[in-house]
Amino acid sequence: MRQSTNQFQKPVTTKVNSDGNIEIGGCDLVKLANEFSTPLYVLDEATLRGICNDYKEAFSAYPKTHIMYASKALCTKAVAKIVSDEGLGFDTVSGGEIYTVYKAGVDMSKVLFNGNNKSFDELSHAIGLGVGRISVDNFFELALLNEIAKMYKTKANILLRITPGIECHTHEYIQTGHLDSKFGFDMTQIDEAVELILTEYKNINLHGLHAHIGSQIFETDIYADEIEILAKEIARLDEKFGLKLNEINIGGGLGVKYTDSDTPPSTYEIADIIIKKLNEVIEKYNIEPPEVFLEPGRSIISTCGVTLYTVGSSKQVPNGKKYVAVDGGMADNPRPSLYQAEYYAEVANKKETNEVENITLAGRFCESGDILINSIELPKLEEGDIICVYNTGAYNYSMASNYNRVQKPAMVLVNDSQADIIVKRESLNDLVSHDVIPDRLENDR
Ligand code: LLP
Repeated sequence: MRQSTNQFQKPVTTKVNSDGNIEIGGCDLVKLANEFSTPLYVLDEATLRGICNDYKEAFSAYPKTHIMYASKALCTKAVAKIVSDEGLGFDTVSGGEIYTVYKAGVDMSKVLFNGNNKSFDELSHAIGLGVGRISVDNFFELALLNEIAKMYKTKANILLRITPGIECHTHEYIQTGHLDSKFGFDMTQIDEAVELILTEYKNINLHGLHAHIGSQIFETDIYADEIEILAKEIARLDEKFGLKLNEINIGGGLGVKYTDSDTPPSTYEIADIIIKKLNEVIEKYNIEPPEVFLEPGRSIISTCGVTLYTVGSSKQVPNGKKYVAVDGGMADNPRPSLYQAEYYAEVANKKETNEVENITLAGRFCESGDILINSIELPKLEEGDIICVYNTGAYNYSMASNYNRVQKPAMVLVNDSQADIIVKRESLNDLVSHDVIPDRLENDR
């Protein structure tokens, strides 16, 4: 089966240059660290465009496919601009993500809005900006959205998010399709929701059904199971209510290769399975070929990103581990401490060295759990070495915090030997810019 760009552990442009340093997008990582300082998120444009292209090509045999990048994985204006230039749509989950893609010039009819507790303001904003589809999660939201659409004298175009009862093998915090999940309508509640839409909620236009099973998934058949459930439901709703739904959204979730033991399927393999299954259910349930939406986040952006850190202190525990600490950690990448996520790293400036040792790569934050990599063989490290942690494009910056009052790193986009800042490094002033000392407390600084 043809390999896809997101099956690799590193950005496609990664190589060792004539100085013996790692480069990505034609940019020497050591020079990037010197110029932009560390920690630094680096994003490779060629990998991003390559992955978008794989998705488009892989699904070209089913032209009614819509790839909606799940911007929760990484949402910045430049990323949104590139992804939308590549022709993809967006799955958003907050007013902030909607605003970001809007500011990036995205066609708002190609934006979906998901989430289990969207606010009145967020829903109004979405309707006002002409967001293409809203995936309604529960009865409360259905009623609220109907009211908002009435206020706007329009109809809200929606999908119903359902919980298909499929369990996948991933970390329990990122499973979502199982029956007691907080997301979506239980299968037994669908009829009641449909009846409300058909009788009471005149400002709601129902187009189809949506489900999402979980994240960092390697199983492929799970998508076929999901399509079976959604198509069967569409056929059943037609029979019971005469309702012609012609959209299904099967969510995101495809996994990537963080470490050697991860074996993500190829986008081409997944597309084959999905398209075969679609053709099968279209015939089996005698339904119109539906418009099919996918919401990949991690599998689009993870491989494109790396994080650069500078080595600082180290500690050899007598008869124990050697800790080497870098200038970032759980605030710029909370995934190891949240999900026991594993990462792979290399030393950007010592690619050619033979002398290796096993170390624990520790962060700089005040928690024992702030460990980026528990055990890794790396060339003997010295203060000032530049570490490159791979596969940090997804759910790193988007989940970053200012824990310990540390500024969030900058992000640069690299391509053809050029590096451009796409997110500025926070300054100390940024950190205090939202703080207010009430006048009565007086402050002379
Ligand atoms: N669609 C829906 C409705 C979702 O809830 C998600 C992710 C996606 C699409 C995109 O899933 P992806 O293709 O990226 O797996 N913070 C966690 C991941 C949480 C995913 C939440 N939902 C992590 O760092 O692993």
